[in-house]
Amino acid sequence: MLELLVFFFTSISLVLFLLTKLQPATMSNPELVLEKSSIEEIYPLASADELKLQHARYANFINHFRELYNEEPTVAVRGPGRVNLIGEHIDYSNFSVLPMAVDRDMIMAVSFGDAAASSDSETISVRLANVSESEFPSRTYTLPKDPKKFVEIDPKVSDWGNYFKCGVVVAQEFLINNREEYNIAEISAMRPMNVLVTGNVPTGSGLSSSAAFVVCATLSVLLGYGFKPTRKLLTQLSIKCEQHVGVNSGGMDQAASIYGVVDHALFVTFKPTLTATPFSFSSKVPADSKEEPFSFVIANSLVVSNKHETAPTNYNLRVVEVTLAALLLAKHLANKAGKTFADPADLLPADGNLQAGTLRNVLELVYPDQTFGTDADKDFVNSIEQLKTLETLAETVLGESEDTPEGHTTETVAKLLGISPEELVKRYMTTYPVRYNYLALRKRAVHVYSEAARVFEFLNALNRPTASSSLTETLGDIINRSHASAVSLFENSHPTVDRLCAIACANGAAGARITGAGWGGATVQLVSASKAAGLVAALKEDYYRKEFPGVSDAVIEDSLILSKPGNGTTILIDDFFSRV
Ligand code: GLA
Repeated sequence: MLELLVFFFTSISLVLFLLTKLQPATMSNPELVLEKSSIEEIYPLASADELKLQHARYANFINHFRELYNEEPTVAVRGPGRVNLIGEHIDYSNFSVLPMAVDRDMIMAVSFGDAAASSDSETISVRLANVSESEFPSRTYTLPKDPKKFVEIDPKVSDWGNYFKCGVVVAQEFLINNREEYNIAEISAMRPMNVLVTGNVPTGSGLSSSAAFVVCATLSVLLGYGFKPTRKLLTQLSIKCEQHVGVNSGGMDQAASIYGVVDHALFVTFKPTLTATPFSFSSKVPADSKEEPFSFVIANSLVVSNKHETAPTNYNLRVVEVTLAALLLAKHLANKAGKTFADPADLLPADGNLQAGTLRNVLELVYPDQTFGTDADKDFVNSIEQLKTLETLAETVLGESEDTPEGHTTETVAKLLGISPEELVKRYMTTYPVRYNYLALRKRAVHVYSEAARVFEFLNALNRPTASSSLTETLGDIINRSHASAVSLFENSHPTVDRLCAIACANGAAGARITGAGWGGATVQLVSASKAAGLVAALKEDYYRKEFPGVSDAVIEDSLILSKPGNGTTILIDDFFSRV
C-alpha cells in the first residue's frame, strides 16, 4: 500500500456547507500563494474547539522538528487535500472541473543547510521524517550537489519519500532552466535539507493526500532558494510531480489544493489556460425561495485505493484509452472529410498527458469557433449541446465490434490508425506501462463527453435556479448520473462504494457519487440540511457497521468530522510558530 499520510484512515469526512447562490469571491491578491501568520487566519471558520486542536497539532509538529534536528526551520508551508464535486477523470482531457479544498491538510517544515558545509564535495544529504514515524519511516537521501544533476526517482517503487523527491526535481528544473525569465540568482550548489511533515488527509481515500504532499514539497524547495511562486506557476510545476512517480495524472488536485478559498468551491479550467475561479455558497436562502438549504457530505468508503500501485490497470490505462479514443475519432473525421494523414501523430495537436491529442481537441475539430466553455457561451448552453453531439459521435464511431464486445484489441486500434501494434505500444504505452485485455474506447469517451457536460449543467443549475424545480433535486440528479457513468462507462467505481451510494440515496441524499480517482476511496453526497443527520446515522448503521463489522463505535465516532471548504496552500510567515 502506498503510504503518504496516515491519520483518519478509517474516517468519514463530512463537508457541510450551506449552498444557495453562486457568487464571485473577493480576493486580495489572487496571483500569489497565500501567506498566513497565524492558525486563526488559516482556518477562519474553525470553532474554538477545532482551533485548540490545531494549536496542539502545530505545537507538537514544531517541537518534533526542534527535537529531531536541533534547529529552526527555514521555511514552513501547509497544503490541503481536496474533494471533487463534479467532473471526474476529465481534467486530463482538458475539460473543466468543480472541486474544492478541504481543511484536512499537510504541514511541512524544512531547514536548508549550507552546501559548502557538506563534508562530501559531490553530494548533499536530505533527511526526511514524518511525525507518524511508525507509518512513514524516516529516510535519508544522498543527492548530487551539482544543480544540473537531477535526482533519480524509480517510478516502480512505491515509497513515500518519492513524493518529496519529485518536488525537488521539478523545483530544481524550474530554478535552473528559467533563471533569466524570472531573474533567479544562479544556484552554485544544492543545499542539504532537514524535512519534517505531518498530515491528516486520509491516504488512499480519493481526497488527494498526494497533491497536498507534492505541492508542499515543490513550494518548500522553491522558497528555500529564495523564489516565491504565483499560484499558477506552483500549480503548473506541481502537476508534473506525480508524473515523476509514475502516475500520469491531470491537474485538478494541485489546482484545488493551491487555489482553495474558504467557503468556496472552484471552477477550474485547463484550456485555453489554467484558471481557478472561486464560487461562494451563501448560507442565506433568498427570502422568497421555498428551497431548503443543502449540504455536501463526504464519506470515506474505507475501500483503500492506491493510485500508484494500480496505475497500469486503472489510472494510467484510462489516460491511454481516452487518448486512443481521441485519435480514432480524429481519424474518422479526417476520413469523412477526405483528408489523408500518413501518421496518426498529425491528426491532433501534441496536447494532453501523452502529448498525442485529447477528446477536447476532437471537439475543437468539429467546433473550431473557440467559444466552448467561455463566457461567450452564456450558461454553457451551446457547450452542453456540442458535448452531446460528440457523445453521440463517440457512441457511433467507437462501438465495439461483435468479436470484441468488451472493447478494441491492440491490433484493431493499430490497424485503424495505420501503424503496427508494436509502434502503438511504443508510442502510447511505454513511458507509463499499462496492462489490459481490451481497450474500452467507446465507454471511456462517452463518459468523458457526458461528464464534461454535467459540469456545465451543474453550474448552469446553480446560476439559474428556477422556481418550478428543486435545485437540490436537479443537482442530485446530475450527481447520480455521474456515478452511474463511473460504474458502467468509466468503470472506476467499486461494488462496496456503490452500496454506500445506494444507502445514502435511500436515506435522504439527493445524489451520491464516487469522488477522486476512484476504484475505492471517498464519496460525495448532496443532502438537504435537515436530512444530513439522518443520512450520517444511516451510513453508520447500514454501511460501516455492516460492511466493516470490526470497526468500533469509537473509531467511527472519532472519525466523523465536519469540515467546510478551506483555504488553499499557505506559506507560514512572520514567526508563525511563536504563536501556536
Ligand atoms: C486523480 C488525479 C486527478 C483527476 C482525478 C479524477 O485525483 O490526480 O488529476 O484525474 O483523479 O478526476
